[in-house]
Amino acid sequence: MKQVYRYLHYLFWRLNGGLPNGYVKQFILRKAFKTNDFYAFIETGTHRGQMVAAFRDVAPAIYSVELSDSYAQAAKKRFKGLDHVRIIQGNSAEQLPLILNQQHGPSLIWLDAHYSGGDTAKGAEDSPISQEIKAVLESPYRHFVCIDDARCFDGSDGYPSIAELKLMLRTKYMLEVKADVIFCYPKSLE
Ligand SMILES: C[S@@+](CC[C@H](N)C(=O)[O-])C[C@H]1O[C@@H](n2cnc3c(N)ncnc32)[C@H](O)[C@@H]1O
Repeated sequence: MKQVYRYLHYLFWRLNGGLPNGYVKQFILRKAFKTNDFYAFIETGTHRGQMVAAFRDVAPAIYSVELSDSYAQAAKKRFKGLDHVRIIQGNSAEQLPLILNQQHGPSLIWLDAHYSGGDTAKGAEDSPISQEIKAVLESPYRHFVCIDDARCFDGSDGYPSIAELKLMLRTKYMLEVKADVIFCYPKSLE
């Protein structure tokens, strides 16, 4: 039922354009996951666990990192009893390299950790994306990396510009911006 709801949001967005909402992004990412044989779904920035919930029936293993203690605890409670879901409290700049070290194949990585106002957490900068990218590049696998909020990548507040991002990833990834998401396609899957 939820999938029908996501699909309707996706169709509406395709017809009308504009900024896609969370359901549209969930639809796009789930579709990408299902058409590839990914090892795990890895997310930075759990928040209320909406993306984790969208993946719990699709991914064999889910890792999600959240800096805010209260959001992390709430997500742990929400997904309690699901052995394939791991919510990790901490800074993704430090936790993502540890998670990637445990992987044995390419994963779909959703980079969405950033200060989002209100009671959301803030690390050293609004976005830990530069350290996250470094961790991805050090991994021996060619993951499929999706970075949310493409519109924020303007070279300020810890966000590199899209051109800088392209330069950082150029050895291993090709970038495409669609639906406010930066899709980083591996040049080859290993
Ligand atoms: C936009 S929300 C994530 C939404 C979620 N990924 C989804 O799709 O439903 C961003 C979250 O990142 C968290 N955050 C901020 N900086 C972080 C960091 N350095 N490491 C991990 N989480 C961080 C915030 O507390 C916030 O909950």
